[in-house]
Amino acid sequence: MNRRDFVKALGLAGCGALAPSFSLKALAEPPLSFYQEFNLKIKDYPILRAWEGLTADIVPRRFTWQGKLPEALNGKTFYRNGPARVVLANQRYTHWFDGDGFVHRYAFDPKGLTHSGKFVRTKKFIEETNANRFLYNGAGSVIANSKHSKSAEAVNTANISLLPVNNELWALWEAAMPYKVDPITLATERQVSLEPVLDGMPFSAHPHADSQGHLWNFGDLSFFGQSKLIIYQLTSQGKLTRYAMVDAPQSYVHDFAVTDNYLIFYFPPITKRRGDTLISSMTWHGNNEGEMLVIDKNTLTPVLRTPFDAGFVFHFGNAWQEDNHLTINACWYKNADIMLKDVKMVTEEKMGKHDRSTAAQIRIDLTQKTAYLDNSTTPMEFVQFDSRFAAKATQIQYGVHASKHAAHGEYNSIASINTQSGKVDSYNFGDNFITEEPLFVPDGSKQGEGYLVNTGLDFVSGHTYCCVFDALHIADGPVAQVKLDSYMPLGFHGAIV
Ligand SMILES: [Fe+2]
Repeated sequence: MNRRDFVKALGLAGCGALAPSFSLKALAEPPLSFYQEFNLKIKDYPILRAWEGLTADIVPRRFTWQGKLPEALNGKTFYRNGPARVVLANQRYTHWFDGDGFVHRYAFDPKGLTHSGKFVRTKKFIEETNANRFLYNGAGSVIANSKHSKSAEAVNTANISLLPVNNELWALWEAAMPYKVDPITLATERQVSLEPVLDGMPFSAHPHADSQGHLWNFGDLSFFGQSKLIIYQLTSQGKLTRYAMVDAPQSYVHDFAVTDNYLIFYFPPITKRRGDTLISSMTWHGNNEGEMLVIDKNTLTPVLRTPFDAGFVFHFGNAWQEDNHLTINACWYKNADIMLKDVKMVTEEKMGKHDRSTAAQIRIDLTQKTAYLDNSTTPMEFVQFDSRFAAKATQIQYGVHASKHAAHGEYNSIASINTQSGKVDSYNFGDNFITEEPLFVPDGSKQGEGYLVNTGLDFVSGHTYCCVFDALHIADGPVAQVKLDSYMPLGFHGAIV
């Protein structure tokens, strides 16, 4: 906000009698901090409530379903993680990704749900709580007089996703190891150690279970300036089976895809150099190509490296192999603005302008050693699928979606897309909503039979909703929903157990 806007915000614009003396005074005023600017803007732009954040844990509260909870969801617990502590001692992070992780718990029963939430007590959270200020630069936020972080662990916010494993719940970041939280109380227990030699290594927020019952994940060592990925294979109980290092470009990788035989990575044309933050260290090279990497799961060695379109991917969906062809579902961005520019805590100038990703398929021919992009115009992010059909040819995927009339740059709908026919089954919550990742719960035996559970924020009325949809009839609207008594910050990923 410039000085003129600030005067306007105070209701003094056009006040001739006061203007000269105010102008002189205003000239002496220091510029507004981002904290002050945000507090002014949120009054005129309630969409900013999505990033306002939380200041305390939430004790369990009861809410009653409107509609009828399907039997398949009775007794289920839905968790979601996301950045929530974004303000400390009048300092506000400027970037969405930087808030400390907060885990929500929604415990379902036939009459209603019980909602609670807790911050993950990471080393960073505790150190900064004790100091009563943010101490370290974030992925995109610069903190005045910040401390140098000696390791990624010092700035681990555990704020991206959750992995239920072995009756435990792990809160995941992507550049360090997860934290275990109690699935009932959400109390932070301790950091996960897969093996002492791997403590401090990056562990991405997107582990994937394969059809053989293994868990796979990776860590991007370019966070530490190395041109390598570390690949992890774990049991379904979260025990490390083996790991290996693979040469990789220094880029940015958030997620990957898994088939019966292969792990597939996409590296957008991004380079890293020294910078104050992760994001300021990255440069997009739109005239260069990206790279696809296919790794053999048996040998943990690359079988294909091939140039690919310049673009950006946060999230991959299902992937499968037919003969020597791989198909990978992805949410495709035309460039890396979403990472490098657009999710910097939004201002009204940015609203409605950021690019949404579209549902795409990447097809790889392992014989010809080629790959091509089959993109669509259907907006989709936070892609999900029926995990009973992991690594099998599937047609249906789910995600957040945007109606044609969405007035801002976020997503206001959830949808399924049939990637063969292009048919979209969507429910539009309205332009005052931002929708969050829908999770699929199977009920039945055929692909797509089941329910979607998601949360959505009505940023104008100031309420978060938890909704259940019949996944085969999304356009019919929620079969059950709960309206919370307040609004929750926009989160990332979740899990249902
Ligand atoms: Fe993610």
